[in-house]
Amino acid sequence: MNQQSIGEKAHRVAFVTAGAGAGIGAAIVARLARDGLDVVISDAHERRANELADGLSQEHGREFISLTLDVTDETAVRAAIDEVVRRRGRLDVLVNNAGWSRIEPVAEMSVETWRRCIDVDLNGTFYCMRHALPHMIAQHGGAIVNISSIAAWETSAEHGAAYSAAKAAVLALTRVAAAENGRHGVRVNAVAPGLIYNDFLRKIYPEDFFAGYAEHRSLVGRVGRPDDVAALVAFLVSEEAGYITGEVYGVSGGVSPHA
Ligand SMILES: NC(=O)c1ccc[n+]([C@@H]2O[C@H](COP(=O)([O-])OP(=O)(O)OC[C@H]3O[C@@H](n4cnc5c(N)ncnc54)[C@H](O)[C@@H]3O)[C@@H](O)[C@H]2O)c1
Repeated sequence: MNQQSIGEKAHRVAFVTAGAGAGIGAAIVARLARDGLDVVISDAHERRANELADGLSQEHGREFISLTLDVTDETAVRAAIDEVVRRRGRLDVLVNNAGWSRIEPVAEMSVETWRRCIDVDLNGTFYCMRHALPHMIAQHGGAIVNISSIAAWETSAEHGAAYSAAKAAVLALTRVAAAENGRHGVRVNAVAPGLIYNDFLRKIYPEDFFAGYAEHRSLVGRVGRPDDVAALVAFLVSEEAGYITGEVYGVSGGVSPHA
Protein backbone atom coordinates (compact mmCIF):
# COMPACT_ATOMS: atom_id res chain seq x y z
CA MET A 1 0.00 0.00 0.00
CA ASN A 2 1.44 3.40 -0.91
CA GLN A 3 1.60 6.47 1.33
CA GLN A 4 -1.31 8.14 -0.39
CA SER A 5 -3.71 5.30 0.23
CA ILE A 6 -2.61 5.07 3.86
CA GLY A 7 -3.34 8.79 4.18
CA GLU A 8 -6.74 8.43 2.51
CA LYS A 9 -7.68 5.55 4.80
CA ALA A 10 -6.64 7.45 7.92
CA HIS A 11 -9.04 10.17 6.89
CA ARG A 12 -12.14 7.99 6.58
CA VAL A 13 -14.53 8.66 9.42
CA ALA A 14 -16.71 5.86 10.77
CA PHE A 15 -19.64 6.05 13.18
CA VAL A 16 -20.56 2.85 15.03
CA THR A 17 -23.67 2.52 17.20
CA ALA A 18 -23.68 0.43 20.38
CA GLY A 19 -19.93 0.26 19.94
CA ALA A 20 -18.89 -0.27 23.54
CA GLY A 21 -20.57 -3.52 24.61
CA ALA A 22 -19.14 -6.96 25.19
CA GLY A 23 -19.56 -8.20 21.67
CA ILE A 24 -19.83 -7.33 18.02
CA GLY A 25 -19.89 -3.53 18.31
CA ALA A 26 -16.62 -3.25 20.19
CA ALA A 27 -14.97 -5.76 17.84
CA ILE A 28 -16.05 -3.67 14.83
CA VAL A 29 -14.71 -0.51 16.48
CA ALA A 30 -11.37 -2.18 17.24
CA ARG A 31 -11.06 -3.64 13.75
CA LEU A 32 -11.90 -0.41 11.91
CA ALA A 33 -9.48 1.48 14.15
CA ARG A 34 -6.78 -1.06 13.30
CA ASP A 35 -7.59 -0.60 9.60
CA GLY A 36 -6.79 3.10 10.00
CA LEU A 37 -10.29 4.56 10.16
CA ASP A 38 -11.15 7.43 12.46
CA VAL A 39 -13.87 5.68 14.47
CA VAL A 40 -16.46 7.58 16.49
CA ILE A 41 -17.76 5.24 19.18
CA SER A 42 -21.34 5.76 20.24
CA ASP A 43 -23.19 3.76 22.87
CA ALA A 44 -26.08 4.25 25.28
CA HIS A 45 -23.62 3.42 28.08
CA GLU A 46 -21.56 6.56 28.63
CA ARG A 47 -18.77 5.21 30.82
CA ARG A 48 -18.03 2.20 28.62
CA ALA A 49 -17.98 4.37 25.49
CA ASN A 50 -15.56 6.82 27.12
CA GLU A 51 -13.29 4.05 28.39
CA LEU A 52 -13.16 2.34 25.01
CA ALA A 53 -12.32 5.63 23.25
CA ASP A 54 -9.59 6.41 25.82
CA GLY A 55 -8.11 2.93 25.42
CA LEU A 56 -8.05 3.15 21.63
CA SER A 57 -6.57 6.65 21.74
CA GLN A 58 -3.70 5.34 23.86
CA GLU A 59 -3.23 2.21 21.78
CA HIS A 60 -3.15 4.00 18.42
CA GLY A 61 -1.68 7.36 19.47
CA ARG A 62 -4.52 9.37 17.92
CA GLU A 63 -7.77 10.72 19.30
CA PHE A 64 -10.95 8.64 19.18
CA ILE A 65 -14.23 10.39 19.97
CA SER A 66 -16.97 8.81 22.06
CA LEU A 67 -20.58 9.97 22.11
CA THR A 68 -23.36 8.83 24.41
CA LEU A 69 -26.28 7.88 22.22
CA ASP A 70 -29.49 5.92 22.59
CA VAL A 71 -30.44 5.21 18.99
CA THR A 72 -34.16 5.31 19.78
CA ASP A 73 -33.91 9.08 20.37
CA GLU A 74 -34.19 10.55 16.87
CA THR A 75 -33.28 14.08 17.95
CA ALA A 76 -30.18 12.77 19.70
CA VAL A 77 -29.22 10.71 16.63
CA ARG A 78 -29.40 13.79 14.43
CA ALA A 79 -27.33 15.81 16.94
CA ALA A 80 -24.72 13.05 17.26
CA ILE A 81 -24.23 12.67 13.52
CA ASP A 82 -24.09 16.44 13.06
CA GLU A 83 -21.48 16.56 15.81
CA VAL A 84 -19.36 13.93 14.03
CA VAL A 85 -19.44 15.95 10.82
CA ARG A 86 -18.75 19.22 12.67
CA ARG A 87 -15.76 17.77 14.54
CA ARG A 88 -14.33 15.50 11.83
CA GLY A 89 -15.50 17.25 8.66
CA ARG A 90 -17.06 14.19 7.02
CA LEU A 91 -18.75 10.83 7.53
CA ASP A 92 -17.69 7.88 5.39
CA VAL A 93 -18.91 4.80 7.22
CA LEU A 94 -21.97 4.05 9.34
CA VAL A 95 -22.35 0.74 11.16
CA ASN A 96 -25.78 0.21 12.70
CA ASN A 97 -24.97 -2.31 15.41
CA ALA A 98 -27.48 -1.47 18.16
CA GLY A 99 -29.89 -4.32 18.82
CA TRP A 100 -32.26 -5.42 21.55
CA SER A 101 -34.39 -8.48 22.12
CA ARG A 102 -36.70 -10.07 24.65
CA ILE A 103 -38.03 -13.48 23.79
CA GLU A 104 -41.76 -13.76 24.39
CA PRO A 105 -44.15 -15.88 22.30
CA VAL A 106 -46.44 -13.82 20.09
CA ALA A 107 -49.50 -15.02 22.00
CA GLU A 108 -48.04 -13.61 25.22
CA MET A 109 -45.88 -10.73 24.02
CA SER A 110 -46.31 -7.41 25.77
CA VAL A 111 -46.80 -4.39 23.58
CA GLU A 112 -43.82 -2.83 25.39
CA THR A 113 -41.55 -5.68 24.22
CA TRP A 114 -42.78 -5.36 20.65
CA ARG A 115 -42.34 -1.58 20.61
CA ARG A 116 -38.94 -1.58 22.29
CA CYS A 117 -37.57 -4.14 19.86
CA ILE A 118 -38.88 -2.32 16.78
CA ASP A 119 -37.63 0.93 18.25
CA VAL A 120 -34.02 -0.17 18.87
CA ASP A 121 -33.49 -2.63 16.00
CA LEU A 122 -35.48 -1.00 13.21
CA ASN A 123 -36.27 2.61 14.06
CA GLY A 124 -32.79 3.25 15.45
CA THR A 125 -31.25 1.92 12.24
CA PHE A 126 -33.55 4.13 10.18
CA TYR A 127 -32.80 7.25 12.26
CA CYS A 128 -29.05 6.80 11.83
CA MET A 129 -29.38 6.20 8.08
CA ARG A 130 -31.79 9.11 7.73
CA HIS A 131 -29.30 11.54 9.23
CA ALA A 132 -26.07 10.05 7.87
CA LEU A 133 -27.16 9.67 4.25
CA PRO A 134 -27.49 13.40 3.41
CA HIS A 135 -23.85 13.90 4.47
CA MET A 136 -22.71 10.89 2.44
CA ILE A 137 -24.72 12.00 -0.59
CA ALA A 138 -23.28 15.52 -0.33
CA GLN A 139 -19.71 14.17 -0.30
CA HIS A 140 -20.61 11.58 -2.97
CA GLY A 141 -19.32 8.60 -1.06
CA GLY A 142 -20.06 6.37 1.86
CA ALA A 143 -20.70 2.86 3.06
CA ILE A 144 -23.36 1.67 5.48
CA VAL A 145 -23.51 -1.74 7.11
CA ASN A 146 -26.59 -2.74 9.06
CA ILE A 147 -26.24 -5.58 11.55
CA SER A 148 -29.25 -7.83 11.06
CA SER A 149 -29.41 -11.48 12.14
CA ILE A 150 -30.16 -14.94 10.79
CA ALA A 151 -33.32 -14.44 12.89
CA ALA A 152 -34.55 -12.44 9.88
CA TRP A 153 -35.14 -15.66 7.91
CA GLU A 154 -34.85 -18.63 10.27
CA THR A 155 -38.00 -20.61 11.04
CA SER A 156 -37.35 -20.63 14.76
CA ALA A 157 -38.89 -19.58 18.04
CA GLU A 158 -35.42 -18.95 19.49
CA HIS A 159 -35.15 -15.26 18.72
CA GLY A 160 -38.59 -13.87 19.45
CA ALA A 161 -40.96 -12.60 16.76
CA ALA A 162 -40.38 -8.92 17.44
CA TYR A 163 -36.64 -9.32 16.94
CA SER A 164 -37.06 -11.50 13.83
CA ALA A 165 -39.54 -9.02 12.34
CA ALA A 166 -37.29 -6.04 13.08
CA LYS A 167 -34.19 -7.72 11.67
CA ALA A 168 -36.10 -8.76 8.52
CA ALA A 169 -37.30 -5.20 8.08
CA VAL A 170 -33.70 -4.01 8.37
CA LEU A 171 -32.91 -6.12 5.28
CA ALA A 172 -35.70 -4.44 3.29
CA LEU A 173 -34.51 -1.03 4.49
CA THR A 174 -30.99 -1.96 3.40
CA ARG A 175 -32.04 -2.97 -0.11
CA VAL A 176 -34.17 0.10 -0.79
CA ALA A 177 -31.56 2.47 0.59
CA ALA A 178 -28.98 0.76 -1.64
CA ALA A 179 -31.21 1.23 -4.68
CA GLU A 180 -31.74 4.90 -3.88
CA ASN A 181 -28.14 5.78 -3.16
CA GLY A 182 -25.84 3.78 -5.41
CA ARG A 183 -25.73 6.57 -7.94
CA HIS A 184 -24.71 8.93 -5.13
CA GLY A 185 -21.66 6.75 -4.44
CA VAL A 186 -23.15 5.30 -1.27
CA ARG A 187 -23.27 1.53 -0.73
CA VAL A 188 -25.61 -0.10 1.79
CA ASN A 189 -25.26 -3.73 2.89
CA ALA A 190 -26.34 -5.91 5.77
CA VAL A 191 -24.64 -8.61 7.79
CA ALA A 192 -26.61 -11.37 9.46
CA PRO A 193 -24.73 -13.11 12.27
CA GLY A 194 -25.68 -16.42 13.81
CA LEU A 195 -24.79 -17.08 17.43
CA ILE A 196 -21.86 -14.88 18.38
CA TYR A 197 -20.37 -15.57 21.78
CA ASN A 198 -19.95 -12.72 24.24
CA ASP A 199 -19.74 -12.19 28.01
CA PHE A 200 -23.39 -11.20 28.26
CA LEU A 201 -24.63 -14.35 26.50
CA ARG A 202 -22.25 -16.42 28.62
CA LYS A 203 -24.14 -15.18 31.71
CA ILE A 204 -27.59 -16.09 30.39
CA TYR A 205 -26.90 -19.48 28.74
CA PRO A 206 -25.27 -22.48 30.44
CA GLU A 207 -21.81 -23.44 29.17
CA ASP A 208 -23.12 -26.73 27.69
CA PHE A 209 -25.44 -24.71 25.43
CA PHE A 210 -22.41 -23.32 23.58
CA ALA A 211 -20.69 -26.71 23.50
CA GLY A 212 -23.85 -28.29 22.06
CA TYR A 213 -24.20 -25.53 19.48
CA ALA A 214 -20.59 -25.95 18.40
CA GLU A 215 -20.93 -29.71 18.14
CA HIS A 216 -24.41 -30.14 16.65
CA ARG A 217 -25.27 -26.96 14.75
CA SER A 218 -22.18 -25.10 13.62
CA LEU A 219 -20.60 -26.58 10.50
CA VAL A 220 -17.14 -25.49 11.60
CA GLY A 221 -17.16 -26.90 15.12
CA ARG A 222 -17.32 -23.66 17.09
CA VAL A 223 -19.61 -20.77 17.86
CA GLY A 224 -19.02 -17.38 16.29
CA ARG A 225 -16.72 -14.73 17.68
CA PRO A 226 -17.27 -10.96 17.48
CA ASP A 227 -14.12 -10.76 15.32
CA ASP A 228 -15.78 -12.98 12.69
CA VAL A 229 -18.42 -10.29 12.17
CA ALA A 230 -15.94 -7.43 12.40
CA ALA A 231 -13.84 -8.93 9.59
CA LEU A 232 -16.83 -9.03 7.25
CA VAL A 233 -17.88 -5.49 8.15
CA ALA A 234 -14.33 -4.25 7.58
CA PHE A 235 -14.36 -5.75 4.11
CA LEU A 236 -17.79 -4.36 3.23
CA VAL A 237 -16.83 -0.81 4.14
CA SER A 238 -13.51 -1.04 2.31
CA GLU A 239 -12.89 0.17 -1.23
CA GLU A 240 -12.35 -3.46 -2.26
CA ALA A 241 -16.10 -3.97 -1.82
CA GLY A 242 -16.91 -1.19 -4.27
CA TYR A 243 -19.14 -3.41 -6.45
CA ILE A 244 -21.14 -4.75 -3.51
CA THR A 245 -24.36 -3.06 -2.47
CA GLY A 246 -27.90 -4.07 -1.50
CA GLU A 247 -26.60 -7.43 -0.27
CA VAL A 248 -26.92 -9.38 2.92
CA TYR A 249 -24.15 -11.69 4.09
CA GLY A 250 -24.60 -14.32 6.75
CA VAL A 251 -21.84 -15.12 9.21
CA SER A 252 -23.22 -18.12 11.06
CA GLY A 253 -20.80 -21.02 10.71
CA GLY A 254 -23.17 -22.40 8.10
CA VAL A 255 -26.01 -22.78 10.62
CA SER A 256 -28.50 -20.86 8.54
CA PRO A 257 -27.13 -19.82 5.16
CA HIS A 258 -29.02 -17.16 3.27
CA ALA A 259 -30.48 -18.58 0.07
N1 LIG B 1 -24.57 -11.86 19.74
C1 LIG B 1 -25.23 -12.57 18.85
O1 LIG B 1 -25.29 -13.81 18.92
C2 LIG B 1 -25.92 -11.88 17.70
C3 LIG B 1 -26.45 -12.67 16.67
C4 LIG B 1 -27.08 -12.04 15.61
C5 LIG B 1 -27.18 -10.66 15.56
N2 LIG B 1 -26.67 -9.92 16.59
C6 LIG B 1 -26.82 -8.47 16.49
O2 LIG B 1 -25.53 -7.90 16.57
C7 LIG B 1 -25.60 -6.63 17.19
C8 LIG B 1 -24.63 -6.60 18.36
O3 LIG B 1 -24.99 -7.59 19.30
P1 LIG B 1 -24.02 -8.08 20.48
O4 LIG B 1 -24.77 -9.18 21.16
O5 LIG B 1 -22.66 -8.37 19.99
O6 LIG B 1 -23.96 -6.85 21.45
P2 LIG B 1 -22.94 -5.63 21.52
O7 LIG B 1 -22.03 -5.93 22.67
O8 LIG B 1 -22.33 -5.32 20.23
O9 LIG B 1 -23.98 -4.50 21.90
C9 LIG B 1 -24.35 -4.25 23.25
C10 LIG B 1 -24.24 -2.75 23.43
O10 LIG B 1 -25.44 -2.17 22.91
C11 LIG B 1 -25.69 -0.99 23.64
N3 LIG B 1 -27.06 -0.61 23.41
C12 LIG B 1 -28.17 -1.31 23.74
N4 LIG B 1 -29.28 -0.62 23.42
C13 LIG B 1 -28.85 0.54 22.84
C14 LIG B 1 -29.51 1.64 22.28
N5 LIG B 1 -30.86 1.74 22.28
N6 LIG B 1 -28.77 2.63 21.74
C15 LIG B 1 -27.43 2.55 21.74
N7 LIG B 1 -26.74 1.55 22.28
C16 LIG B 1 -27.45 0.54 22.83
C17 LIG B 1 -25.37 -1.40 25.06
O11 LIG B 1 -25.07 -0.27 25.86
C18 LIG B 1 -24.14 -2.29 24.87
O12 LIG B 1 -22.95 -1.54 25.03
C19 LIG B 1 -27.06 -6.43 17.57
O13 LIG B 1 -27.72 -5.71 16.56
C20 LIG B 1 -27.60 -7.85 17.62
O14 LIG B 1 -28.98 -7.89 17.40
C21 LIG B 1 -26.05 -10.50 17.65
